This record gives sequence, C-alpha cells and structure tokens, in this order.
Amino acid sequence: MFADTLCVYAPSEFLVKPACHLWEREEARRLRRVVFCIEQGLFAGDDTDDLDARAETLIAATCVAGMPDQVVGCVRIHSGETGVWWGSRLAVHPAFRSQGQIGSTLIRLAVGLAHLRGCTRFLAHVQLQNVTLFEKLHWTRLAEVELHGRAHALMQADLAFYPGEARLADGIVTRARLPA
Ligand SMILES: CC(C)(COP(=O)(O)OP(=O)(O)OC[C@H]1O[C@@H](n2cnc3c(N)ncnc32)[C@H](O)[C@@H]1OP(=O)(O)O)[C@@H](O)C(=O)NCCC(=O)NCCS
Repeated sequence: MFADTLCVYAPSEFLVKPACHLWEREEARRLRRVVFCIEQGLFAGDDTDDLDARAETLIAATCVAGMPDQVVGCVRIHSGETGVWWGSRLAVHPAFRSQGQIGSTLIRLAVGLAHLRGCTRFLAHVQLQNVTLFEKLHWTRLAEVELHGRAHALMQADLAFYPGEARLADGIVTRARLPA
C-alpha cells in the first residue's frame, strides 16, 4: 500500500559556483578520481597534477534548503600566458548527466569568470566524444592533439557568448528537467 505512494528523493536544484570550502574541494577531487581514473581509465589511481597547486576549482552541488550538499560536478580553471585561460578536468557524476545542464553550466561559469578576470582567449583540450557538446556551446575546434594517450581537440570558446558578469562570483543555479 505504502510502497505505491513512496517517492525516491532526487535533487532538483544545483548550485554551480567556485569551491570555497575544503569539503567542496575534497569532494571535487574524489569525483575527478571516480570519473577520470575509474570510469575512463585515463590515470592510474590519481589524476592530480602540477596545475592543481594554482588552478581554481568550480563545483556543481546539489542543494538542500538552498545550501550546497553534495558535489556532483566540477571543473578547474587557470591562467597561462597573458590573457589566456584554460579549463580542465570537467566532470559530472554519471547519475547527474544530461538532466540539469550541469556540465554546460560549469562551462558557462568557467569561461564567464575567466572573462570577468581579464581573459581574452579561453582554451581547453576536449575529449573527442564531447566536441559536439562544446560546439553547441559556441566553441571552435583549433587542432587535434594527443594527451594521456588519447586524441583530444584543442578548442576555443567564443567569449561573446560568455559575458564576464560580476554576479557570476555568487554562482549560477540550474534545475533538473522535470520528468515528461
Ligand atoms: C561531458 C560531461 C561533463 C557533460 O555533462 P552533462 O551535465 O551531462 O552535460 P549537460 O547536461 O550540460 O549537456 C547539455 C546538452 O548536451 C548533451 N550532451 C551531453 N554530453 C554530450 C556529448 N558528449 N556530446 C553531445 N551532446 C552531449 C546533453 O544531453 C544535453 O542535451 P539537452 O540540452 O538536449 O538535454 C559529462 O558527460 C561527463 O562528465 N563525462 C565524463 C567526463 C568527461 O568526458 N569530461 C570532459 C572531458 S573534455
């Protein structure tokens, strides 16, 4: 009887924002390990590299009562030579993919925040299976390169589609699509 009316709780709101607490950064690192080491087998055991010492982590978190609860997506950004910024290690937990625009919103925040901080060129090495997604988001393929033993596309964001608005520092809320 009760079983008929039981609902499974599923988070419907996600806050995409810079990681500002240690637990947020730690959960992002755990998610990266799950996605890039276990799921994709790109790294053995740990995907940490030298960039982690200076890159900034952005996260997507489920929200409970409006507060960040669990990290389900992440990306990192860093500046290179003058005006050039890079994004890397974009990952969304498998259970949360294609349901709340989480990956797209992480990309929007990453490029928008860099733009706000003076970026004139935003680049990323994109795995080939994700090129279509990035093209949809106004990125252009510049070259093909091999990284970690796999083909990647070097891609550049069109900054005209990523205004560097000050309010981005507070994060962006994105919502799960309602079931049809
Ligand atoms: C790539 C990734 C970050 C996308 O995250 P996501 O939260 O599923 O992406 P979004 O929901 O914002 O996708 C937006 C739209 O693009 C579609 N999409 C998602 N991944 C896509 C892909 N690889 N190719 C084409 N379309 C894609 C989604 O279905 C969605 O379509 P809709 O708007 O019609 O619903 C996620 O699949 C992931 O973590 N993959 C494993 C790690 C990885 O590949 N990292 C990127 C390295 S370059």
